[in-house]
Amino acid sequence: MENETSLDIDIDFMKTLSVLYVEDEEETRELLARFLERRIGVLHTAANGQEGARVFAEHHPDVVVTDIKMPVMDGLEMAASIKSSTRDVPIIVITAYSEQDYFIRAIEIGVDRYVIKPVNTDTLLGAIYKSAKAGAQARELEHARQTVIETLEQTIAVVSRAIESRDPYTDGHQKRVSLLSVAIAEEMGVTPETVTGIRLGSLVHDVGKIRIPAEILTNPRRLSTVEMDIIKTHSQAGYDILAGAKFPWPVARMVLEHHERMNGSGYPNGLAGEQICLEARIICIADVVESMASFRPYRPALGIERAVEEIRMNRGSLYDENAVDACIKVLEKSDYKFWD
Ligand SMILES: [Fe+2]
Ligand SMILES: [Fe+2]
Repeated sequence: MENETSLDIDIDFMKTLSVLYVEDEEETRELLARFLERRIGVLHTAANGQEGARVFAEHHPDVVVTDIKMPVMDGLEMAASIKSSTRDVPIIVITAYSEQDYFIRAIEIGVDRYVIKPVNTDTLLGAIYKSAKAGAQARELEHARQTVIETLEQTIAVVSRAIESRDPYTDGHQKRVSLLSVAIAEEMGVTPETVTGIRLGSLVHDVGKIRIPAEILTNPRRLSTVEMDIIKTHSQAGYDILAGAKFPWPVARMVLEHHERMNGSGYPNGLAGEQICLEARIICIADVVESMASFRPYRPALGIERAVEEIRMNRGSLYDENAVDACIKVLEKSDYKFWD
C-alpha cells in the first residue's frame, strides 16, 4: 500500500474507467459520487460491503474504492472476497487515522492503496489513476507476453509438421503426443508455465529424426539392430539442434531425455529416476501411448488398451508412477478415445 501525492492525470484515460465506490454514509457517498462522476467513465455506488460485492460481480469495474467500517459487511471483508476471485483489480480503502488497526489486515488481503479521511478529492483521484494505470500496464505486458508465446508455439508447430512431412507414417505424432502430454501435466497439477514448456517440447521431441535417412524411418520391415541404433541417435541429434536456442523452458533437455527410463534402461545416457527431468518423464509416457495406439510401417496399431496395459505394467520401473496414474485418468475421462 502507498499513499498518494498529487500528480498529472491523463483525463482521457480516466474517462475510460469504471469505478465502484462503496460508502455507507449517504451524504459522503453522494458528495464524492458527484465529484467522481464528472471525472471518470462509469461510476457504480453501493452502501455496504455486501451490496458492493454484488455490484462488483455484476459490472467488473476497473477499480474499487471503499470505506472500511460499514454495516452488513465491512469494506475489508468485501475486499477479501473480491481479491479471492480476481487478484488484479486494484482496491483503494478510505480510512481514518483512528482505524490503523485495520492496516495489517488490509495488507494481508492485498489492498493496493489507502486514502486518509477526511478525503482530499485530488488525492483520491490520483490514487484511482495510479492504480488503474498500473493495472492497465500489467495487462498490456501480460498480453504482449502471451502474443510472444503464441507466435513461438505457431513457429514450433510449423517446424513440427516439417519434420513429420518426411515420414508420412508418423504424421501428426508429435501433435498428438503434445496434446496428451499437456493433459497429463495438467492432471498432475504442474504450473501453467511448465505446461507451456511441455506443450512446446513435446511438439518437437523427435526433431532429431531430421538426421535419420528417410528409408530407415519409412522401412516397412522390422528394423535391424544397426537401424535401431541409428534411430536411437535422434534424441542426441534433437538436443544438438535445439541446444543453442534460448527457450525459457528446458526444451532441449526434454528432447534429449524423452527415451530415458526410470530404471536407467533408456537412452542415450541411461539416466534414472529424478535424473530425468519431469517434462521428459511426462512426454515419454505420451510418446509410448501414442506410438502403440498408432499404425507403424512395420506393424498395425496395437490399440490404446494395449498401450495402457504397457504403462500400467511398467509403472515405476520404466515409467514415472505419477505420470502413469495421470495418463490413465486422462484416458479414462475421454473413454479411451483421446484422439478421436
Ligand atoms: Fe523419439
Ligand atoms: Fe516420438
